[in-house]
Amino acid sequence: MAKSLVIYYSRPGQNYVNGEIVDLPVGNTQIIVDYIKEFTGADTFQVETVKEYPADYMQTTEVAQEEQDDDARPELKEELSDISEYDIVYVASPNWWGTLPMAMFTQLEKLDFTGKKVKTVITHEGSGLGSSMSDVKKLCEGAEIEKGLAIHGADVKENKSTIENWVE
Ligand SMILES: Cc1cc2nc3c(=O)[nH]c(=O)nc-3n(C[C@H](O)[C@H](O)[C@H](O)COP(=O)(O)O)c2cc1C
Repeated sequence: MAKSLVIYYSRPGQNYVNGEIVDLPVGNTQIIVDYIKEFTGADTFQVETVKEYPADYMQTTEVAQEEQDDDARPELKEELSDISEYDIVYVASPNWWGTLPMAMFTQLEKLDFTGKKVKTVITHEGSGLGSSMSDVKKLCEGAEIEKGLAIHGADVKENKSTIENWVE
């Protein structure tokens, strides 16, 4: 049986949902990751930055914008270095300013994706995949990259069956 890994980022707390600031106890992407795990038994790796983002949503968007402008590679609490035992790698991430948070860049570009199948799911608040897929293609060089799946952050719970049908 194919062995799967989910590499993901998710930030619980203040977020923007359907035009309002709400406090999410569990991040939207985390909910999707839990579904992937439930349906596939995949291992999971959470990308976490050493420096925490502000609790305030607007402030976080400013920090994130700066990191993107600087093409930054935020330092991670822990880094994965070897994914050789996996056949399928799920990349699960929010859309931050049109693409993955820079912390995902820090992690993904360090891995050897040769021969892996990469399945990407992005949660968002209206921008869909944005330019995530062109970045995933650059970051996961050598992988077979499947068409990405975009899920509206506010609707993650209604999309459990979408995930069930999408996973392998
Ligand atoms: C820093 C930041 C930037 C964001 N930028 C965008 C964006 O450009 N387009 C969009 O549709 N949603 C954007 N969002 C909303 C998130 O993509 C959305 O709420 C996502 O589901 C959050 O996932 P999480 O709870 O797993 O972190 C942004 C959120 C944050 C915190």
